[in-house]
Amino acid sequence: MEKFVYYAPTEIVFGREAELQTAAQVKKYGGHKVFVVYGGQSAVKSGLIDRITANLKENGLEVLAEGGVVPNPLVSTARRMVQSALAFGADFILAVGGGSVIDTAKGVAHAVASPEHDIWDFWSGTKVTKSLPIGTVLTISAAGSETSNSAVLTNDTKEPPTKRGINTDFNRCRFAIMNPELTMTLPKYQIGAGAADIFMHTSERYFAAILGNHLTDEIAEGLFRTIVHYGPIGVREPDNYEAMSEIMWCGSVSHVGLTGLGSKGDTPRDGDWACHQLGMAISALYDSTHGATLTAVWAAWCRYVMDENVGRFARFARKVYGVTEEDDRKAAEAGIVKTNEYFISLGMPVSLAELLGHEPSDEEIEKIAVECTYDRTRTIGSFKSLAYDDIVAIYRNCRN
Ligand code: NZQ
Ligand code: ZN
Repeated sequence: MEKFVYYAPTEIVFGREAELQTAAQVKKYGGHKVFVVYGGQSAVKSGLIDRITANLKENGLEVLAEGGVVPNPLVSTARRMVQSALAFGADFILAVGGGSVIDTAKGVAHAVASPEHDIWDFWSGTKVTKSLPIGTVLTISAAGSETSNSAVLTNDTKEPPTKRGINTDFNRCRFAIMNPELTMTLPKYQIGAGAADIFMHTSERYFAAILGNHLTDEIAEGLFRTIVHYGPIGVREPDNYEAMSEIMWCGSVSHVGLTGLGSKGDTPRDGDWACHQLGMAISALYDSTHGATLTAVWAAWCRYVMDENVGRFARFARKVYGVTEEDDRKAAEAGIVKTNEYFISLGMPVSLAELLGHEPSDEEIEKIAVECTYDRTRTIGSFKSLAYDDIVAIYRNCRN
């Protein structure tokens, strides 16, 4: 086995009516003055914000709720919330929503704990050394932020905007309330984008530079098979409890590190993560839905890097889709085709033209590649390290 460190401290409260335990969880982790972060209107319309607020107040907690987080969450929104949370004297940050809300809550928690810093400092190299406790009531299965050590924000005060992530154990939620019924109001597109993202959090770890932990591979392959089976059912039948609960648990397990134990390469993260970097650059410039950016680039990335380890792609095809082809290269290609069929069944794009609604020009692709490489100052990926020219080639290969 390859060496690993595994740390996953988030308490999971899963199942119907789990949200009734929100106050008990906040108290357990020391909260008294709870700053609730939410998104647009979905959690207000469903009555969830009212129910959570009532649950907290009935249990003697002080509450201030503030909404307005948008998908591809903005640092400007988080800055506003930091001011509100400081004025309120918050000692606990509760996210009610999905990845965008949770990541904003994480940023708010760090900046409230260290008000001498601007929140973007932490996304620009300043180490997070303390934070407020954070909890989550999850309303969409996708980003896995409820269990991950990551947070991703877009700096909309820069021109062009830039979207960046940070990894720190201070990003770990104390608890995650996960009631699959809360995800049944999601638009089909968001269920599909979520099921794509969940697949990708496993793929990014599965196609890694360092491999060799058998159980890790088996867990990853089981997760792939589960999300490939239940993802499309969730899109077709959002009120199917079995499907929505399997998707929800896949979302957390997929991004809690379990599917990549022992795959740590020479980057500080487990896994490869090139597709996420390719996708985040697109979201920064076009505000595209995260999961959809990943499905648009995945096959082109696979074909570009496959020669590094064709056997790995062949194993993926055989274990996930039951491909019987004996030739590794043919099996690998069959796995890529089947995955694109899965993405299509989720209603997701499999090219940049489908994602953006137009075929991007060479100039547009170069602009995205500049954002992806932080102005040509970095490479991405560990399965195969990719520099600016590689990235341009991959974007061109999925242009239409
Ligand atoms: O804003 P509201 O009105 O709530 O609508 C949201 C939003 O439009 C809606 N929604 C959420 N729950 C709903 C609902 N609509 C109806 N019923 C419900 N129950 O769904 C839309 C998308 O929400 P968002 O939070 O953006 O989705 P997701 O969870 O996919 O998060 C995406 C963000 O997370 C980042 C992505 O880059 C992106 O910014 N990621 C964060 C990660 C992490 N922290 O570990 C890892 C991921 O790889 C990802 O990068
Ligand atoms: Zn993701």
